[in-house]
Amino acid sequence: MGRFSVFSFIKDQYTTLPSIKAFQKDLTGKTVIVTGANVGLGLEAARHFASMNPGRLILACRSRQSSEEAVKDIERTTACKSVEWWALDLTSFQSVSDFATRFEKEGGGKIDILVENAGINTGVYRQSKDGYESTLQTNHLGTAFLGLLLLPWLSRTESRVVVVSSELHYMVKSIKEADSPNIIDKLSDEKYCTSSVMRERYHVTKAFNVFFVKALAERLPADTKITVDAVNPGLCHSKLTREIEGVLAVFVSILKGILARTTEVGSRTLVHAALGGTQAEMQGKYLNKCQVEEESDFIISPEGHQIQHRLWDETVHILSKHDDRVKRNIDEYLKRN
Ligand SMILES: NC(=O)c1ccc[n+]([C@@H]2O[C@H](COP(=O)([O-])OP(=O)(O)OC[C@H]3O[C@@H](n4cnc5c(N)ncnc54)[C@H](OP(=O)(O)O)[C@@H]3O)[C@@H](O)[C@H]2O)c1
Repeated sequence: MGRFSVFSFIKDQYTTLPSIKAFQKDLTGKTVIVTGANVGLGLEAARHFASMNPGRLILACRSRQSSEEAVKDIERTTACKSVEWWALDLTSFQSVSDFATRFEKEGGGKIDILVENAGINTGVYRQSKDGYESTLQTNHLGTAFLGLLLLPWLSRTESRVVVVSSELHYMVKSIKEADSPNIIDKLSDEKYCTSSVMRERYHVTKAFNVFFVKALAERLPADTKITVDAVNPGLCHSKLTREIEGVLAVFVSILKGILARTTEVGSRTLVHAALGGTQAEMQGKYLNKCQVEEESDFIISPEGHQIQHRLWDETVHILSKHDDRVKRNIDEYLKRN
C-alpha cells in the first residue's frame, strides 16, 4: 500500500534495493536525457545508463564546469564515449525552450528515456527572471515545460519519462492556495511567501510532480508509446539540502547519518523507473523502492484530483505564453480530458 509513516520511512531506508543488474538493458542506439546529472542522484543514474552502451547520453545541466567534469568522470568510470553536456537551466523558460530547439536540430529525432531529476530544496524565497518563485519554477514549471516540449520526440519510439518526486509529497494534506483564483500565482507572490509558507514549498512541488505525472498519463492516448512515472529515490546523501540552515540542518544531517542511502543506491530507483516494468504496470504511477506504491491520500482524493486538473490548466496556460510549441504538442500528442 505504501502508506507513509515514520515507521515505514525507516523500514524503507533499511530495505536493500535490487542491484542494477535486475533491470539493466542494452541501450544501443537509444537516446537518454538526464536533467541535473552533474552531481547527486542524476550523476549516478547517468553513470548507470552509460554502462549500458547508450547511443547518446545527454546530461542536461546548468553549470558548464561541473557538467564537463561529470562527462569526464562518467567516461573514465564506464568507458562510455557517447556522453554529452547540454545546457539547461530549469529556472529560465528561455533556457528550456532553447534546449528543445537544439534537440529539434541536433537530437537525432527521438528520445527513448527522459529522466527529469533536477530539483532544489530551499526555504529562501527567490523570484526567477520569469516572475515565479524559483523552487516552483525549477521543480514543477520548468520540469513540466521540458516534458511537454519534448513530446514529439518521445512519441516517436517506446519511451519513458521519469519525474523524480519524493516521499515528502505525503506531507502535503491540502493545497491552501486553492482558495485563490490562481494557485501558481499565489505560490509565487513574494508577500505571501513567508518563511512558514516556504518551509512547505519543497513538499508542495514534489506533490506537484506526482500531479503532473498523473495528469500527463491521463491525457496520453490509449495507443501512446510514452510511459510516464514518478519516482521516490528515498533519503540520500547528496547536495540537495545544501541551503538548509540552523536546527533543521543539524536534524537533517543526523537523519542522513543514520538513514540515508548513497546516491548510487538511490539512483537505482531512477534507473528502474526508466527501464523496469511494462507500460501497463508503470503508466502514471508513483514508485518507491523499485515498485509501484500508492500516492498520498490527498493526491488520490476527489479534492486532489480537482487540484490536479487546475494545476494542469494553470501550468499549460503559463507555459503556452512562453512557447507556442506547448499548445501545438498538446493538441497533436495528447487527448482532450
Ligand atoms: N537526496 C534526497 O534525499 C532526495 C530524496 C527525495 C527526492 N529527491 C529528489 O532527487 C532529485 C535529485 O536531487 P539530489 O538529491 O541528487 O540533489 P543534488 O545533489 O542537489 O542535485 C540536484 C541537481 O539538480 C540540478 N539543478 C538544480 N536547479 C537546477 C536548474 N535550475 N536547472 C537545471 N538543473 C538544476 C543541480 O544542478 P547544480 O549542481 O548546478 O545546482 C543538480 O544537478 C531532486 O528532484 C530531489 O527533489 C532527493
